Amino acid sequence: MSHLRLGVNIDHVATIRNARGGRHPDPLRAAKIAEAAGADGITAHLREDRRHIADADIKLLAENLSIPLNFEMAATDEMLGIALTHKPHASCLVPEKREEKTTEGGLDVAGGHNTLKHFVSSLRQSEIRVSLFIEPDPKQLEAAKKLNADIVELHVGPYCDAESGDIRQKQLDKILTAAKVAEELELECHAGHGLTYDTVAPIAAIPNMMELNIGHFLIGEAIFVGLDTAIRNMRKLMDEARAGNGV
Ligand code: PXP
Repeated sequence: MSHLRLGVNIDHVATIRNARGGRHPDPLRAAKIAEAAGADGITAHLREDRRHIADADIKLLAENLSIPLNFEMAATDEMLGIALTHKPHASCLVPEKREEKTTEGGLDVAGGHNTLKHFVSSLRQSEIRVSLFIEPDPKQLEAAKKLNADIVELHVGPYCDAESGDIRQKQLDKILTAAKVAEELELECHAGHGLTYDTVAPIAAIPNMMELNIGHFLIGEAIFVGLDTAIRNMRKLMDEARAGNGV
C-alpha cells in the first residue's frame, strides 16, 4: 500500500497565540517540530475573520517550510489572491461561515452551480493542486471530478463525532463508498476533521487514502505529551492501521 501522508494542521497553535496577542506560541516553530516528528505536510486555514492563522503566518510558512503547505481557504477572490501570491503546494477549498466554531460541513460542489470553477482553474493554472473538502457523498465526488479538482478531502467529522458504534459504522460505510468512488473517478482521496487516536485507524486503513489532515486533537494532546510525541503517536497508529494491525 502506498505511504499515507500526515498533514498536521497548526491553526490552533495560532488560536492560543491570539488569545494573548504577541508571538507565542509560534505556528512556524510548531510546523518545524511537526516536520521533524514525521509530518508529511503542514495545513493552515486562513479564515476570513483571521481568528487563528494570520496573513503573516502564511507568508512565513510558504517561505520557510521544506515540506508541502496545504493552504485551506474559502472560495473568495481575496483568498485566491493570497494563494496565487504564495503558491502553496495545494489549496483545499472549504465552506466558511463567520459564526461557525470550525468548518461545519463539506463544500456543496454538486449544488454550487459552477461557482467554484474559476477558483479551481485559476489555482491549477498556477500549478497549485486543488482539493475540495466535501461530504462523503458520490454526488459531490462526481461534481468535484467535473470541476477538474485533483483531490477530494472527505469530511470525516460525523464519523468521528458519532456517539454509538452503529452510527459510527454507518458513517464509516459512507466514507468507504466515497473512497471507492474517488478511486473510480481517479480523484486523489484525503480525509480530515475531528480525527483522534480512537478514530484514525479505520480511515488510515482505506487502501486508496493518500493523506489525513489532523489538527485540533494533536494540538490539544500536545499540551499533555508535547507536540513531537503527539504526532509520533498518531503516525504510529496510522502506520499500524496501514499495515493491517490496527483496525
Ligand atoms: N480538514 C479540513 C478541510 C478542515 O477544515 C479541518 C479543520 O480546520 C481539518 C481538516 C482538521 O480538523 P481537526 O482540526 O478537527 O483535526
